[in-house]
Amino acid sequence: MATLRIPDKHVTLQDPLAVRQFLDLRGIVNERWSADRGLSSNSTNEQVLAAYDHLLKPLMEKYGYQTTDVINVDGQTQNLQGIREKFLREHTHSEDEVRVFVEGQGLFWFHREEPDDEVFALLCEQGDLISVPANTKHWFDLGDPPKVRAIRIFTDQAGWVPHYTNSGIDRRYRW
Ligand SMILES: [Fe+2]
Repeated sequence: MATLRIPDKHVTLQDPLAVRQFLDLRGIVNERWSADRGLSSNSTNEQVLAAYDHLLKPLMEKYGYQTTDVINVDGQTQNLQGIREKFLREHTHSEDEVRVFVEGQGLFWFHREEPDDEVFALLCEQGDLISVPANTKHWFDLGDPPKVRAIRIFTDQAGWVPHYTNSGIDRRYRW
């Protein structure tokens, strides 16, 4: 289950119900997903997608999502520093950002200005589905050493571009 941190309030939530309630109130979807067969680090991206198809298909139909792929980032990834910096800057998207963590972990940071200015982070691990609503300010911390394998679900892959806010707030909150 994902862990939620609210650094300004010195609060960490680990109780699944409390985390779910906090996120629900903010329109952020977090579910627990399980593959329907064994997967390993050697599984291909196609095998990963097939193992989650029983959950992917209904979700995509419900929300009208069109495509999926699998992203893999670890210490061997080319241009790791460039990728890390791209993820770490506060941005929004014009569509939902939906991820299912298959392996490893990552920290999603959220910045909501209304009704109260707040920043919180959700540590996502194997089995966590997270949906960042369109136009929500967020950034993503790969951690060190980075290790994440995740399914990405798109409404329109071409439309999934980061709009950077250049606020610099992301520099004040790190893993
Ligand atoms: Fe994003």
